[in-house]
Amino acid sequence: MKKRKIAIVFGTRPEAIKMAPVILEFKKRQEIFETLVLVTAQHREMLDQVLSVFNIEPDYDLNIMKENQSLSDITANVLKGIEDIYKKERPDMVLVHGDTTTSFSAALAAYYQRIPIGHVEAGLRTYDHDNPFPEEGNRQLIDNLAELYFVPTETSKLNLINENKNESNIIVTGNTVIDAIHYTKQSQVKHSVLDLMDSKPKQKWLLLTMHRRENYGKPMSDVFEAVVKLTKRFSDIEFIMPVHLNPLVQIVAKEVLGDNSRIHLINPLEVDVFHQVINKSHLVLTDSGGMQEEAPALNKPVLVLRNKTERPEGLEAGTLKLIGTDSRTVYSSVSQLLTDAKEYNRMTEAINPYGDGTASEQIINKLTKYFEIED
Ligand code: UD1
Ligand code: UDP
Repeated sequence: MKKRKIAIVFGTRPEAIKMAPVILEFKKRQEIFETLVLVTAQHREMLDQVLSVFNIEPDYDLNIMKENQSLSDITANVLKGIEDIYKKERPDMVLVHGDTTTSFSAALAAYYQRIPIGHVEAGLRTYDHDNPFPEEGNRQLIDNLAELYFVPTETSKLNLINENKNESNIIVTGNTVIDAIHYTKQSQVKHSVLDLMDSKPKQKWLLLTMHRRENYGKPMSDVFEAVVKLTKRFSDIEFIMPVHLNPLVQIVAKEVLGDNSRIHLINPLEVDVFHQVINKSHLVLTDSGGMQEEAPALNKPVLVLRNKTERPEGLEAGTLKLIGTDSRTVYSSVSQLLTDAKEYNRMTEAINPYGDGTASEQIINKLTKYFEIED
């Protein structure tokens, strides 16, 4: 039997976290699939952290990251760098994830080589090209090129059906981030930040992350100013912020938050440690996409620092609140959750809408059928 060759392409931290379980699942099916792991390294350090947690060694590494790279840099370098690899390896399918510029460019390069594309975490939409930017554009473009759509929920399936995509090629699998959480749960991690949190059990720990392009500048500093004010009002709270390595985030975070003994700015954490930090936190403040999915799985309230979300499931489940970035709204929304126990408890009771941790297995089962392989 001819093995099918599948190229799995990714470049940033969240893609790596969500593609890692798929790669581990492929390893169990080596008799029918040959896999090529191709990283662009749109992120360098933050990607390598994930590869190390999941023990994944890439077959190819384009190593494209530059400080303050532009979207055109990423698009052009991935497109051109990947062309030769596709030509040499001729995979039967390319799998890309989500909405990053790596994913879009890797999909475009596959399309130019007439290689079918499987899109993992397809179908998410805000239908607003500015929110989030450029992710909304990227994912719509990828879905226009893809052959197979692995969608996390019925809502994302409906989005694609409404866009006239072929229903028989849309497979609802849940989100592979749940598979990743099942994996990281098994790890016995130690880290100074976990010791710090344990050393002050009476404090409420609030986890903060921010990195989105549409929040650069004033929206970000507005949120950070609210955070400083909150530490003045509540003496029993402390913030932990693993700061994204983007210099535009680093500078503002250090400037506004750097000089406060109850705001702990730390380096990005390995994902197994990070999941423990979420578990130990009282609530989460973030503009991240992936953390909106992890929260309902880990029963933590999340205040989303955005105006729109492509993850309505968490809003419906009650674990997310969209609060935007206005300083007063951030201050009052956090204050409410710190003082209104009923509201806080309501938000922790959400039901995880993102599946049972078998998304990766379902993706590979579908590929087996797609290629008509006898398993
Ligand atoms: C990218 C994705 C975004 C995703 C985010 C996850 C695009 C357009 N954006 O945004 O969708 O939510 O990753 O974090 O694809 N840097 C480092 N080391 C690292 C990573 C980043 O130094 O390991 C710095 C570099 O200076 C880089 C900058 O961060 O230029 C921005 O990285 P980039 O990938 O362009 O954008 P993100 O905001 O990370
Ligand atoms: N994460 C991590 N270490 C950190 C911060 C976040 O491993 O210090 C993980 C988090 O658990 C989630 C993912 O990174 O799975 C989210 O990445 P990010 O917010 O950078 O991107 P987005 O999800 O917004 O695309």
